[in-house]
Amino acid sequence: MRIDAGRLATPEAPLRLGVLVSGRGTNLQALLDATASGAIPARIVVVLSDRAGAPALERARRAGVPAAHLDPRAFPDRASFDACLARRLEEAGVELVCLAGFMRVLTPDFVRRFRHRILNVHPSLLPAFAGKDAQAQAIAYGVKLSGCTIHLVDEGVDTGPIVLQAAVEVRDDDTPESLAARILPHEHRLYVEAVRLFASRRLVLEGRRVRILPEEAPA
Ligand code: GAR
Repeated sequence: MRIDAGRLATPEAPLRLGVLVSGRGTNLQALLDATASGAIPARIVVVLSDRAGAPALERARRAGVPAAHLDPRAFPDRASFDACLARRLEEAGVELVCLAGFMRVLTPDFVRRFRHRILNVHPSLLPAFAGKDAQAQAIAYGVKLSGCTIHLVDEGVDTGPIVLQAAVEVRDDDTPESLAARILPHEHRLYVEAVRLFASRRLVLEGRRVRILPEEAPA
């Protein structure tokens, strides 16, 4: 099946992105830059954070994108917090949800509402080192290569179909911070590329494999 928003995005009618963040927001920044420059036919219509004061919120506001903090503690449970997130995204007409350093696991209900329309970036070569502190996990395990993964989000933790990956070497003297810094530029590049592929309807899901269709030659 085709993984898309049911239409081909164009510069005149860009794909409407909602970005969920928790922290620093460098992946959000990569998406803001790529959408603002017209490098991809997409527009970020809303940014939502589960953490107050996340620098990502400031990045969004500086770019003129509506951004809000939703406090999970103000909700009785995860389901109602996620329902509120989903409602805010739907109200903004979001077609693709991008998790960009969003440090919460989404409930199955949320995933169902945006089935095959949620992307996540993770700083390891999945399925290795899912969950928290992926770079520290990779160093502790002793792998010689790590990297990053852009994947579709399913009900599991970092288990959804893989869209793109990039590998980097792990050096003997790496710390979690130095490895993270080597991986980060690849995250930014791959995230923009994954949104481009989604927007141009070039992703096909076969079982849990994602096939990338070749670019169509201009008419
Ligand atoms: C990124 O390295 C991202 O891959 C990671 O958090 C960082 C967020 O940075 N995400 C996860 O670990 C998700 N499990 P950013 O806020 O600068 O984009």
